[in-house]
Amino acid sequence: MYKTHYCGTLRITDIGKSVLLVGWIHKNRNLGSISFIDLRDYYGIVQLTFYKNNPLKEKIIKLGREFIIQIKGQVVERKFKNLNNPTGEIEVLVSEIKILNKSRVPPFLIEDKTDGNDELRMKYRYLDIRRNIIKNKLIFRHEITLIIRKFMSNKGFIEIETPMLIKSTSEGARDFVVPSRINIGKFYSLPQSPQIFKQLLMVGGIDKYFQIVKCFRDEDLRADRQPEFTQIDCEMSFIEPNNIQNIIEELICYIIKNKCGLNISTPFLKISYINAIKMYGSDKPDLRFDIRYCELNNFLKNSGISFFSKKEELIISILIPKYAIYSEIDKLIKYIKEYNKNINYVIWIKYLNNGTFQYPLDIFDKINLKKMVNSINANPGDLLIIITVKSKNIKNIMERLRLKIAIFLKFKFKRFAPLWIVDFPLFELDEKSKKLNFLHHPFTSPKDEDIKYLKNSPKKVFAKSYDLIINGVEIGGGSIRIHKRKLQETVLKCIGLSKDEIYTQFGFLLEALEYGAPPHGGIAIGLDRLISTITGNDNIRDFIAFPKNNSGRDTMINSPSVLSLEQLKELNLKFNNRGKI
Ligand code: AMO
Repeated sequence: MYKTHYCGTLRITDIGKSVLLVGWIHKNRNLGSISFIDLRDYYGIVQLTFYKNNPLKEKIIKLGREFIIQIKGQVVERKFKNLNNPTGEIEVLVSEIKILNKSRVPPFLIEDKTDGNDELRMKYRYLDIRRNIIKNKLIFRHEITLIIRKFMSNKGFIEIETPMLIKSTSEGARDFVVPSRINIGKFYSLPQSPQIFKQLLMVGGIDKYFQIVKCFRDEDLRADRQPEFTQIDCEMSFIEPNNIQNIIEELICYIIKNKCGLNISTPFLKISYINAIKMYGSDKPDLRFDIRYCELNNFLKNSGISFFSKKEELIISILIPKYAIYSEIDKLIKYIKEYNKNINYVIWIKYLNNGTFQYPLDIFDKINLKKMVNSINANPGDLLIIITVKSKNIKNIMERLRLKIAIFLKFKFKRFAPLWIVDFPLFELDEKSKKLNFLHHPFTSPKDEDIKYLKNSPKKVFAKSYDLIINGVEIGGGSIRIHKRKLQETVLKCIGLSKDEIYTQFGFLLEALEYGAPPHGGIAIGLDRLISTITGNDNIRDFIAFPKNNSGRDTMINSPSVLSLEQLKELNLKFNNRGKI
C-alpha cells in the first residue's frame, strides 16, 4: 500500500490519525531547531514537521525538490495556523521516511509564479502540468466536457466517432496527410473537421449527432489556433438555424452558469454579416463594450470640407455613447491619429445633452448635424469621432481600433457578450488568385432566394450560415447544408471545379445525396477557444495538455521529426533524411 490518505485532503478532523502519505517534495526548509517539508500530491500540499528531537531531521537535509517520498506519521494540530491553506490547520510528525524516486533539479520553479519562460515550460510540459495553474485548467476542461456530454445526451444527441484517416474534407485550410504503406503512392488526410461524415450520418437516419473530436489543420498558428484542436461537433436533421442556435445558447448559458455563476440572457443578439462589418469593422465583433462605426460618406464627401474630399478614403464616425463630456478629448484624438498611419484625419463632434453640437473651429457650421446624427442613431450625450481612412486598409484597422479605444478610455467591459453573426456571403474573392472561394465550406446551403444568382452573379449569394461570437472570439460556426445533388454540384462549379474534379473529390457525397438525404444542418464549437474565453484567457495553449508552439512544434517530444530511411522506404517516399527528393 502506498498511502492511506492524500496530502491535500488532510484536515483538522484528521488530528490524531496515523497516516501513510506519498508525494513530491515541494519545499524543504531547515530553520535550525525545526525543519519542514511541504509534501505535494495531486490534491494539495501538507506540511511535514521535524522537531529537534526527531532523528530523521538530519536525513531529510539531502532530499531535494521534486523527490518522491513516502512517509509514515501522525496528524497533529498546528500551533501557528495558516488559514490560507486548506491543510494549514494541521501538520504531520514523521516517524518513517522512504525515497521512492529521486529527481534532478527541475529547470524552473514548480510554483504558481514560476521563473520558467514559455519555451522552457513547453519542453518540460510534464513539469509544467505539476503546477496548480496548469493542472487546474486541465481539470476545468475535463469538467466542461462532462457537462457538455451530459447536456447533449439529455437533448437526445448521441456521440458517434468518425474516422481520423480520411480523404480531404475541403474545410479551407491545408490538410495534414498520412502516407499509406499498403496503397503505394496514396495518402490519407487527417480531418479538418468531421463535416462530411456528420452529414453522411444524417443520410444514415441519425437524427441528432454530436462528438467531442480532434480536428487537424495545417495553417499559420496564433494564440487562438493550434494545428490540432478539439471541436464540439453537432448535426441535426429536419431543422432550421433557430433550432440549433437555441440548443447552443442553452448549452453556453448552462456552462457559464455552472462554472462562472452568471446568468446570460437569451436569445443572443443576431447581426447580419454586412451590418457587423459596417458597425464594428469585423465579422467577430467584441460587444463587451459599446462603440460602433457609421459610414458618413453620404453626408460629408461632397460637403465642401476639404479634409473629407479624398476619393479613395472612407469617412467613418466612431460613436462613443455617453462620452460627450469626456474631458481629455485631445489625448484621445492624438491616440487615434497615432494608432495607424492610414488614418488621415481625426476630428470630434460632441452631441451635447441639450441637443446642441460642439466641435473645434467652425468646420461643421454648414452641415445639418441633426440630420446626420439621426441617420446614425446617435443620442444626446454621445461623442462622435470622425476619421478618414484609406478604404483599402479598412478591415485590418477598424477591427482592432474599437478595442484599443475602449481600453484607452478604461471602459468597464461586460464579462460575456455572446452574439450570432448570420447571413454570410456564400463566397469570398481570393485576392491573390482572383477566384471565388467558400467563406465557410462547400456544403453550406445558399439562401433559397439567392439560388437564382448562382450561375451569373455568385457574389450576390448569401448563405444559411451562422457563427457564434463571444467577447470578439469566433467560438463556433455552422450552417444549414445542401441536401440535394444538383444544387451541390452547381455550388461546387461556382468555384471553378470541373465536372471531373467534382466527381473525384465529392462523388461519394453527391451519390449519398441521391438516396433520400434529409434536410439537415449543424454547428461546431471550438472547445479550446470556448474554455479559454470563458476563463478570460487569450491563449488556448494552456488548456491543452500537450500543445504545439507557434512553429507547430512539440519541443518536448521533438516533433515533427525526420523518419529513418527504412521507414521512408517502407512508405515508398522518396525523400532523404534532409527533406530532399
Ligand atoms: P469552422 O471551420 O468554423 O467550422 O470551425 C469551427 C470552430 O472550430 C474552432 N477552430 C479552431 N480552434 C483552434 N485552433 C484552430 N486551428 C481552429 N480552427 C477552427 C473555432 C471555429 O469557430 N465543419 C464546420 C462546422 C459546421 O459547419 O458544422 C467547421 O469546422 O472555434
